[in-house]
Order: sequence, then C-alpha cells, then structure tokens
Amino acid sequence: MSKSGSNLKPSTPNEVYVHKVEGTGSKLLPSKSKMPVFVITGANRGLGLEFVRQLSADPSNTIFAATRSLSRDLSALESLKSNGATIHILECDTGSQDSIAAFSKQVSSILGGPDKKIDFLLNNAGINATSTQTSLTLTPDSLSNHINVNVTGPTITVQVLESHLHDGSVVMNMTSGLGSLAYNRTKETVDCTTYSISKAALNMLTVHQASDLKGKGVVVVCVDPGWVKTDMGGPGAVLEKEESIGGMLKCLRGLKISDSGRFFACDGSEKAW
Ligand SMILES: NC(=O)c1ccc[n+]([C@@H]2O[C@H](COP(=O)([O-])OP(=O)(O)OC[C@H]3O[C@@H](n4cnc5c(N)ncnc54)[C@H](OP(=O)(O)O)[C@@H]3O)[C@@H](O)[C@H]2O)c1
Repeated sequence: MSKSGSNLKPSTPNEVYVHKVEGTGSKLLPSKSKMPVFVITGANRGLGLEFVRQLSADPSNTIFAATRSLSRDLSALESLKSNGATIHILECDTGSQDSIAAFSKQVSSILGGPDKKIDFLLNNAGINATSTQTSLTLTPDSLSNHINVNVTGPTITVQVLESHLHDGSVVMNMTSGLGSLAYNRTKETVDCTTYSISKAALNMLTVHQASDLKGKGVVVVCVDPGWVKTDMGGPGAVLEKEESIGGMLKCLRGLKISDSGRFFACDGSEKAW
C-alpha cells in the first residue's frame, strides 16, 4: 500500500477501509463492510487454500471458494467449513468462459441478486506449466494456454461479476515478480518465459481494470506473493504460505482508492513494473 496519504487503521480485522475522494474536494470517506464477502479462485490448494484457511477463522466472513472442478478431493477445503466462516465451494474453471459465467450466476443467486456486494475478488488461480520453454522454443499452444488461464480468466471473471463490484470493493490479480519487466531486466538468465509474458499481461490488465472501474470506486491492484512453498513454488521457495497470505491480506485491507492500479509485494511495499 502507498506509504503516503492518510490511511485509517481498521478497528477489527474485517473492516475494509477504502478512502474515496468525494466530488472535486479532497475529503476522504471511509467505506467499510462488517460482514465482508470474498471470492477466491483456485481455492483448493496452494495460496488459494491458504486465503480460505486464514479467512475461515472469522465467522463474519462469507467466502466463495472456487475450484476448477468439484470432482476431486476437496477435503482440505471442506474441513475449513467448521472454522466459523460461511464457505461456499463452487466450480469455476478460469480457463473456460462458460464455467466462469455459470460460477457468476451461482454467486449472484447465493448472494441474493446481481447487485449484492463482493468486497474482495481475489483472482488467484494460475498456471506455470512449461517453465523450461524459452522465447526461442515456446509453442503457440503453451502461450495461448497461459494467456487463457492467467489473463483471460481474470478478465472474464471481473466482467461477469462487475455488477457485484461497488464503492470500496477490491479486485486483486495475483501476479508474480516474473511479470515485472524491471525485474527480468536485472537477471542474467530469464526463465519461465510463457508464464512471465502472461503475468506481465495480467499487470497491464490490472492498470486497465483500475481505470475502467475508477468511476465506481473499485480498487484494482496486482500483488506478487513472493516465492512461496506451494506445488508451483516448490520446496526450495523462501516464504511460507502463512506469511505470504497474511501479509497480502493486511495489504489488501489497508488499500486506499489512490492505490488502484498499483503493483504490490505481499508485504505491502510497491514493486517496479
Ligand atoms: N508459489 C509461488 O511462489 C508463486 C509466486 C508468484 C506467483 N504465484 C501465483 O500465485 C497463484 C497461486 O499459485 P500457487 O503457488 O498456489 O500455485 P499452485 O499450488 O500450483 O495452485 C494453483 C491453483 O490454481 C488453480 N488453477 C490452475 N488452473 C486453473 C483453472 N483453469 N481453473 C481454476 N483453477 C485453476 C489450481 O487448481 P487445480 O488444483 O485444479 O490445478 C490451484 O488451485 C498463481 O496465480 C501463481 O501464478 C505463485
């Protein structure tokens, strides 16, 4: 989050403060939800599951935990239902526009209408499936697959859920340090080419979504979780899931309207594009 400007601290962990400039004046207005609604894609394992785990401890939270398929072992996710929060486990394949549309209808129906507010939309699902391909060897299929899941997925998800995004809603696109052009330029040998290209595109999408949703007071950011021990990050990663997601939730809860369109690390510091 930005270190400049005023930023009221939430008095409970779930209060969302987003400061909005009213009219042409400079007065900052807080808007908060005491029973926040979270939507998280790719929630069945890794960082998505950790989001649900941490959020499940608060009974005032409503969580839509989206998973690519319901026909799999979802016991880890199911077990979190007993923690206190209301958790809806729904299918959403972010590589399929039909699946995302069906998911959105279910969310609207459970919330009680297409205008009911989603406080946090966390576009977490992502793939890094062909990490050894370089710019000289990558295949069109791999590139389009990564763009489809990592970029088109979050694009369509925001489009179909837009009616639920109101003043103070936050959209988070889970990016990567590998999506930073500035970071890649510092490396002697770049890697994960298709993934990096897709995350750089996701970063650009974030800037456009932030601009397009500015009039509604919706904050859109992208966050790099760091190198985290998950199936994707591998056992050699430096961060534990608890630390990455704990930091990210703190960052997301402290966002201001002026933070929209920014790129953060999981500790809330701003990253170079
Ligand atoms: N771990 C890291 O070090 C790291 C670093 C930078 C960025 N990230 C980003 O953080 C996010 C989460 O990564 P992770 O480390 O948790 O990875 P992970 O352990 O591989 O988990 C990825 C999650 O995304 C889901 N997913 C993939 N394709 C999907 C699709 N088409 N539809 C719905 N869900 C889909 C997976 O579901 P399935 O179980 O169905 O495959 C799984 O739940 C990703 O966007 C990743 O790029 C991670």
